Amino acid sequence: MTSRQFRFLVVGATSGMGWYLTQALVSQGASVLASGRRAGRLRALRWKLLGERARGSILIQTADVLDPSTLDELLGTAIEAWRGLDCLVYTAGIYLPAAFEPSQSKDWSRLFGANFAGFHHLVSAINARVSDRPVHAIAFTSSLAKGGPRESIAYGLTKRLLEDYCQRAGGVLALNRIFLHIVDPGPFRSEMNPTCGVGASEASRRTVARIWKCLADKGSCSACRK
Ligand SMILES: NC(=O)c1ccc[n+]([C@@H]2O[C@H](COP(=O)([O-])OP(=O)(O)OC[C@H]3O[C@@H](n4cnc5c(N)ncnc54)[C@H](OP(=O)(O)O)[C@@H]3O)[C@@H](O)[C@H]2O)c1
Repeated sequence: MTSRQFRFLVVGATSGMGWYLTQALVSQGASVLASGRRAGRLRALRWKLLGERARGSILIQTADVLDPSTLDELLGTAIEAWRGLDCLVYTAGIYLPAAFEPSQSKDWSRLFGANFAGFHHLVSAINARVSDRPVHAIAFTSSLAKGGPRESIAYGLTKRLLEDYCQRAGGVLALNRIFLHIVDPGPFRSEMNPTCGVGASEASRRTVARIWKCLADKGSCSACRK
């Protein structure tokens, strides 16, 4: 299968990693359904790619990963447009640099929702609705790596959760032809993290190469387990 034939759902496409990953995928010929909560940013992304006459195609739809009904509608759009899906790229995330404060429990609830639960909701919806071909679900672990300028608790907790989830659910889901991958990008410059030296554009180019590897390896992706 060539990149032109791959159908991607990118969640978290309105800024940072997802914004640049969508551009890299569409410019390489893929079909992308791009999502996030901000409609204006999605429209801007679509106009940018149309203006550049990118090789692939882009659909846009708002959805909130904390609201499973919007995710169901999102998946419905992919199925209606393409009759299936090859790959979920999950880059929705929130970065909280601070230590846990009971007074900020709403922020922590949003964080676990966006960085972890949303991935589970989407994987469950895919598992229930898509059956024509194997689907890969690729999650980006949360925020600054250990040893970064400000180590994030969010990084440690949601990364562990995602790893555990992918390990435990992976075997069962693989029977249903869903392959779970975790990609651990190095810190990059984005709205979320303006302090790092590597641009999100360059980070995305490297990451797309990892995505092609995940798709080629069909569940035994050594690159994902570093
Ligand atoms: N920046 C770094 O250095 C770095 C390094 C390694 C890993 N990461 C991880 O990569 C992921 C993306 O980071 P980033 O720097 O690209 O962040 P970002 O620029 O802030 O983008 C976050 C994305 O998540 C979406 N999002 C947040 N809450 C959402 C929700 N409830 N429903 C739907 N979409 C939601 C946002 O869209 P809307 O606001 O429009 O909904 C936005 O598109 C995160 O998991 C982050 O932890 C980042």
